[in-house]
Amino acid sequence: MDTEILINFSYIVSCILFAFGLKMLGSPVTARKGNILSMVGMLLAVVVTLLSREIISFQWVALGVVIGVVAGLFTATRAKMTQMPETIALLHGFGGFGSMLVDWHAYHVHPTTSLIVTIPIFLSIFIGGVTFTGSCVAWGKLSERLPGKAIKFPGMHFVNIAVLGALLVLGFIFLSDPINNYPIFLVIVALSLIMGVLLVIPIGGADMPVVISVLNSYAGLVACTTGFVIHNTVLIVVGALVGANGIILSIIMCKAMNRSLANVLFGGFAPAVKSKAAGEKKEAKSMSVEDAYLVLEAAKSVVIVPGYGLAVAQAQHAVRELSELLEKNGAEVRFAIHPVAGRMPGHMNVLLAEANISYDQLYEMEAINPTMDTVDVAIVIGANDVVNPAARTDKSSPIYGMPIIDVDKAKTVFVLKRSMATGFAGVENDLFYNENTCMVFGDAKQTLQSLVAEFKASASHA
Ligand code: TAP
Repeated sequence: MDTEILINFSYIVSCILFAFGLKMLGSPVTARKGNILSMVGMLLAVVVTLLSREIISFQWVALGVVIGVVAGLFTATRAKMTQMPETIALLHGFGGFGSMLVDWHAYHVHPTTSLIVTIPIFLSIFIGGVTFTGSCVAWGKLSERLPGKAIKFPGMHFVNIAVLGALLVLGFIFLSDPINNYPIFLVIVALSLIMGVLLVIPIGGADMPVVISVLNSYAGLVACTTGFVIHNTVLIVVGALVGANGIILSIIMCKAMNRSLANVLFGGFAPAVKSKAAGEKKEAKSMSVEDAYLVLEAAKSVVIVPGYGLAVAQAQHAVRELSELLEKNGAEVRFAIHPVAGRMPGHMNVLLAEANISYDQLYEMEAINPTMDTVDVAIVIGANDVVNPAARTDKSSPIYGMPIIDVDKAKTVFVLKRSMATGFAGVENDLFYNENTCMVFGDAKQTLQSLVAEFKASASHA
């Protein structure tokens, strides 16, 4: 068979593997297989590219692979589940940077006047630069190496528009005579890098995961434009897939927070306000683990709402144990999953799957909410914003309009957390002061383990 046909056929196979892999990531049941499929697609694409292209130095490629593998293994094995968003930010940032360097090299070595090549070069440098520095700032904010809150300065919008305008004008000048405009090209590189910083510093708090998803989309787009520059079909297709996925995910997250993408990217999160309940100095009731056990022992229907604190406490195995004991005791146990519980899409699903909690027990917010008033006990574990009734009722609250899990409608609500502190959005939670709510203070894992011990002790006495 002709080598060219074989190469293109391999690229098509690799694109199909990516497409099916991505599709399978849509469900926790098939996600692992989807990941493996995409990895095989990536391996095939890399091997075919190495064999088919005129590689000048395999030694340099090998050195790059070794450095990349060591850095990747070091980062991925050290990152905790709660550090995933910042790790992903860094990976996308380097993806954008890598594409940018490839295009820079292509322009440097083969300057051309063909717009089919120079327009993608300009776009790659622009989007790649924004992705790289934007992702670095996002990583810094999420890992608390930079202040996490939104950083704004007077005239910021004006500066942003001026930099964007300068980039577009310089882009036109560059495209009019790419061969003689190397200095302009270098200014475009510098301004793109500055633009990335300017776009991400004014975003903070609960909006960061959305920004990461948008940057993920940019990293896909820049891979796509690079594909046009170096005539690589697989980069074009996969880049477009990643670009589209990132945007779809960003929109899904925004919907779950009742925000528009434009508002997240350019509006900024409103400052936290004290709720009326806090202003009236209401008292929250707290309960001991022993008393909470007695209520749970009598419950016939229990809904568990996991949140970010469950991930921090690594309490997934303890919650599985408790759910099994509750079921043994005759209760129906369901897990209610809010779409933005935790710090990344699917965070809770991954966490609970790690503890082998059956997918059949996981219910989406829309499915569980209509049944909440029939529930005996709702156990909120390390969740805060996603169960805050202010989102339904308090128009002055920054999270007003965000759909929540209606735990307050259950007969009894237990909130397992360490203190009365606010969640990610920095908003006071009225739920804690409700008549039917009892706070069970302490680290989620320890509290759950104590509840498990109570059930076991009572079984051994029986
Ligand atoms: P949060 O509102 O952040 O609340 C987490 C709670 O966990 C805190 O109030 C904290 O209270 C508690 N906690 C921390 N460590 C704990 C431990 N060891 N044991 C027990 N409790 C602990 O979490 P959530 O309800 O999951 O909401 C997620 C937030 O992230 C929302 O604001 C959402 O909009 C935002 N967000 C998420 C996403 C995605 S995709 N997931 C995307 C964008 C935004 P204490 O300190 O008192 O213990």
